[in-house]
Amino acid sequence: MATYRKFIFVCNGGDCKDEGCKKLTKDLKSLIQTDGHKGKYKIIRTKCMDFCKSAPVVVYNNEVCKKADVEAIRKKITG
Ligand code: FES
Repeated sequence: MATYRKFIFVCNGGDCKDEGCKKLTKDLKSLIQTDGHKGKYKIIRTKCMDFCKSAPVVVYNNEVCKKADVEAIRKKITG
């Protein structure tokens, strides 16, 4: 069983799909495959998290990231 340090939850509800969550998920997958991150993070796709007006929505480290993009998440995971 794999052991990840952190989980990245990406909403895949309707509004987040309309706002590009699939591309965001793809970009985040690329990010967590880079050196230094490999094997530490797991992306979990979720249903609607009820922040639809702020789509796309990502939850990382118990923090809701509204209108999330890969750069915002990169900053959060690199500290
Ligand atoms: S569709 Fe993503 S928060 Fe509702």
